[in-house]
Amino acid sequence: MILAIETSCDDTCAAVTDGAAIRSNVISSQAAEHARFGGVVPEVASRHHLELVNAVVDAALADADAELGDVDALAVTRGPGLIGALLVGVSTAKALAAAGRRPLVGVNHLHGHVAANFLEPEPLEPPFLCLIASGGHTLLAGVREHGSYEILGQTLDDAAGEALDKGARLLGLGYPGGPEIERAAEGGDPQAFEFPRAMKDDPRLDFSFSGLKTALLYMVRDLGDEETQRRLADLAASYQAAVVDQLVAKLRRAALGGSRRRRDPEDAWRAIALGGGVAANSLLRDRVGELCESEGLKLKLVAPELCTDNAAMIASAARFLEPTPYPGYLEWDAAA
Ligand code: KG4
Ligand code: ZN
Repeated sequence: MILAIETSCDDTCAAVTDGAAIRSNVISSQAAEHARFGGVVPEVASRHHLELVNAVVDAALADADAELGDVDALAVTRGPGLIGALLVGVSTAKALAAAGRRPLVGVNHLHGHVAANFLEPEPLEPPFLCLIASGGHTLLAGVREHGSYEILGQTLDDAAGEALDKGARLLGLGYPGGPEIERAAEGGDPQAFEFPRAMKDDPRLDFSFSGLKTALLYMVRDLGDEETQRRLADLAASYQAAVVDQLVAKLRRAALGGSRRRRDPEDAWRAIALGGGVAANSLLRDRVGELCESEGLKLKLVAPELCTDNAAMIASAARFLEPTPYPGYLEWDAAA
């Protein structure tokens, strides 16, 4: 059994896994604390992690019907993330591991998002192409083995989730912006407003979202407050469609064999998986479903609560990494 802790951003998370099975997955979201600031305030996040982490770990053990002594190894996110937030998780994991002379595994947060796909039900086996879209990162990962991945393309500026969070703010919606825009877009016309599809014809597999945010800024300015609120559903639907379009266009290009137009068996992928908070988005899930169906690709979608930050995905990644025996990890810095 692995006990994992994840505190890289604004969710305090602990989970217990047994092989690919999730025994418990506790997530204490601080989103409400940060909502009034319109985004995550790092210092506030660290303080909340500190207050919550012991209770979250206890809850994860209790839900798993386990005790610390039953755990074979601990795992913790070592980055990327907010340094003060990571420090709380890493210190806690070190202390718990050292108390039982257990090994500790340091996990890269993005590898965690990939590894959510290795969990039950129906764990996915490499090779597969994985789109990771979160608040801090947007990348296409080529996964050929459980323990690593290759970055095939990534955002040149904002992350997809960041574009949604900033867009929501411009539209007067709450934080986090992704789910807010998804809700506001219901019943809206995705073609009502024209937003740029950056990079769509660029042969590389990189993304760019900053122009989209600027386009919305000007649009809202031109429309004025009253008209913006009146057309909110159309604006949200059009903006969301522009974000999703770009993600799906690059995913398609990568899936069919990199930047080449023709499918090259050497570079093409047979299975597609998603990860990161934006992967919880229904439009994205539907559009990727259509892509897989039309191209005959296998599709793996994990439950929305395994897309957003959680510790089960960190435990899942840890299964395939080399653990550091006691006491080697006591010297670790907060971020790897
Ligand atoms: O993976 P995650 O929980 O944290 C990071 O590692 O960043 O991703 C958070 C991001 C936020 O930008 C949030 O707005 C977005 O994921 N998100 C969504 C949805 N749920 C969360 N975006 C679109 N649709 C959703 N349903
Ligand atoms: Zn994340």
